[in-house]
Amino acid sequence: MDKIIIFDTTLRDGEQAPGASLDQNQKLEIARELETLGVDVIEAGFPISSPGDFKSVEMVARKIKRPCVCGLARAIPKDIDAAYEATKPAKHPRIHVFLATSKIHMKYKLQKAEEEILRLAVRSVKYARNLCDDIEFSPEDATRTEREFLYRVVEEVINSGATTVNIPDTVGWTEPKEYGDLIKSIIENVPNINKAVISVHCHNDLGLAVANSLSAIKNGARQAECTINGIGERAGNASMEEIVMAMKVRADIFGLNTNINTREIYKASRMVSKYTGFLVPPNKAVVGLNAFRHESGIHQDGVLKKRSTYEVISAEDVGFKTESLVLGKHSGRHAFSQRLANLGYKFNQAGIDKAFTEFKILADKKKEIFDDDLLAIIEEKSKAAVQQVWSLDGFEISSGSSIAPQAMIALKAKGKVFRKVSSGDGPVDACYKAIENIIHIKCQLLDYSIQSVTRGEDALGEVSVRIKAKGKDFSGRATSTDIVEASIKAYLQALNKAVS
Ligand code: KIV
Ligand code: ZN
Repeated sequence: MDKIIIFDTTLRDGEQAPGASLDQNQKLEIARELETLGVDVIEAGFPISSPGDFKSVEMVARKIKRPCVCGLARAIPKDIDAAYEATKPAKHPRIHVFLATSKIHMKYKLQKAEEEILRLAVRSVKYARNLCDDIEFSPEDATRTEREFLYRVVEEVINSGATTVNIPDTVGWTEPKEYGDLIKSIIENVPNINKAVISVHCHNDLGLAVANSLSAIKNGARQAECTINGIGERAGNASMEEIVMAMKVRADIFGLNTNINTREIYKASRMVSKYTGFLVPPNKAVVGLNAFRHESGIHQDGVLKKRSTYEVISAEDVGFKTESLVLGKHSGRHAFSQRLANLGYKFNQAGIDKAFTEFKILADKKKEIFDDDLLAIIEEKSKAAVQQVWSLDGFEISSGSSIAPQAMIALKAKGKVFRKVSSGDGPVDACYKAIENIIHIKCQLLDYSIQSVTRGEDALGEVSVRIKAKGKDFSGRATSTDIVEASIKAYLQALNKAVS
């Protein structure tokens, strides 16, 4: 088989990243984008984990047509039943059962011996296979599992009906040569391995997730589990865009295809970043803002003469729009809607009118409007935007080296306006304190970061925050030409998630 199945777990393992909670609409929009992107399997969630997760998986299963829709389950009947019920409406449902097989997990986490684990694995795969034809089994922490035991588990679950066996590097422990050899040894030592697809699932604790996945692919794995922007538990999962582009750019080495329409990559990356609130670092491979920028004179000169002197990926191939100056204050509605269509966004008249109004407001503040500015506007207006229980009605700040920073914030809820004044360590802190006094919510700011969307003195500032409220992490993100306003709106978005 010269095709690699792309299994996207942004909505499951990706959403397990602290603070990455997504609501149902956001999950559905991401799933739709994954479908457009061409992924083969969407792991939509862990249905038993919460009623919300169950509903999201079910909704994705109903609405998504081409890709297989997968639900995760522990090796217990009630989990498998939930995964079955949630994925049942899909055209191609899959149940993904996992059970830890490493000594450390069996002894300390499960307190079970090898034979019992084997029995549970077999029983659960048989149980799942009675419900669904497409079953994936993951021996969790496979890379720290005793080899002989791993071979036995893989052989037995295939005999019991597993159609895909995943070999997870759950804790990001392995390195490329060792992982490639493990896949090769499974192929050599499991007699019925040709009856199942071998999958890889790598975590990035040592920064090796993509390299490990590619090494496994070179050694015979044919499904890669990954997430957009590499989000996931702890240091994250293998990044889909990096795996796919490595195979595409170095087709001479891999000789393998995927169904991914790489021109959708940048759009998918922005969407995931926007909804999770996780900014993409500027130096991130494939989708970072600097991935196609050249600073040194020697590099710029080379690129002008021939791009491939210093660029191995073409920006267009990943749908990255290189800072083209598109519109300004005097641009009309027609040019605006045409530009949106070129960026791949279709709106009805009302949607265009709304976005056009925002565009004009921005054009009054900012001379040159780039594609990324337009994307920032329309993403704020997207259907899946967070429910606005509280919205910003106005603010004033006073700050300076010899006065204590003070902020007046006016928030609107259910048509009523509430005002509070507060002081703080800086203008943003004062704003956040005033907001907390209005909403009467105790919360802790865990992370705050800011970056510019495009270049120039009047660039849009993009603020991303992560807060802890009601015992849970929530993230928010917003853009504005005024960084205090962006900071307030990002905070409000996170609080709106917490209160709604
Ligand atoms: O990392 C892991 O082991 C997992 C399994 C559930 C596949 O996410
Ligand atoms: Zn994982």
